Amino acid sequence: MTRVVLHDRDHPYVVKLEERPGFKNLTSDEKLLKFEIHLCACGLSKDKPFCDGSHARVKNEEKGKVYTYDEQNQQHVMDPKYV
Ligand code: FES
Repeated sequence: MTRVVLHDRDHPYVVKLEERPGFKNLTSDEKLLKFEIHLCACGLSKDKPFCDGSHARVKNEEKGKVYTYDEQNQQHVMDPKYV
């Protein structure tokens, strides 16, 4: 099966463990409480669900256009007749 998923976010979701409900009850380790997890929201990470910095590739996208990315994360503008 194959599917097309559109992503319009250009930066990761940041999960701060100390802000997660109940996490402070699990540990008092300050290093762990301050730990952040960056989850990919652009769709290009090769290490999903984690952000690997690949979102830098989408920073030049223009509003109103739809882009596709090949296996090497090379950017292509999608033909408007398929949008
Ligand atoms: S948000 Fe996708 S790689 Fe960073």
